[in-house]
Amino acid sequence: ARLVVLVSGSGTNLQALLDAIAADPDGYGARIVAVGADRDAIAGLDRAERAGLPTFVRRVKDYPTRDDWDRALAEATAAYRPDLVISAGFMKIVGQEFLARFGGRTVNTHPALLPSFPGAHGVRDALAYGAKVTGCTVHFVDDGVDTGPIIAQGVVEVRNEDDESALHERVKEVERSLLVEVVGRLARHGYRIEGRKVRVGDVG
Ligand code: GRF
Repeated sequence: ARLVVLVSGSGTNLQALLDAIAADPDGYGARIVAVGADRDAIAGLDRAERAGLPTFVRRVKDYPTRDDWDRALAEATAAYRPDLVISAGFMKIVGQEFLARFGGRTVNTHPALLPSFPGAHGVRDALAYGAKVTGCTVHFVDDGVDTGPIIAQGVVEVRNEDDESALHERVKEVERSLLVEVVGRLARHGYRIEGRKVRVGDVG
């Protein structure tokens, strides 16, 4: 399967996918064909360039309207003919144009146990709420914010001494391995989305 990965920051989820594919290029079942971002000069783009991958940047502020940006992002992504788009730490909400082309095959990773703590500060919100466990969710993107059908989740204990960055780092350890496992399974075994349920593998 051809993957386009979208990033907005450090790109450690992207790096986990790159490392898993490099470790087993034939067996993993997918390869990254391009990396896209909503901003320049982020470590995620450096990681892509170090891996010799094509990259593209589409910044919201460069477009007259949000829809124009959404269309530009969709067109840049479509140029690489992805089978799956992986939003790995991508911090923008894609719109109708993008979903028209890639809905049902765009996977997002979120650092909380959805439906709890959606949005841009899932780790901070779980900590502030006093949750005893949190974790990460890998899900398909729909037209909501972190509301699409859940594929897999991983649980992380919250410790009394945790601050946001310590907890986020522990969540990201689980998140990276969950994302690598899920993307490989989707690529190798196929999947079907039935309402809110996702069935991976054994699909005709
Ligand atoms: C991840 O935890 C992602 O879920 C969240 O921000 C983090 C991005 O990490 N949106 P990275 O850019 O993959 O290192």
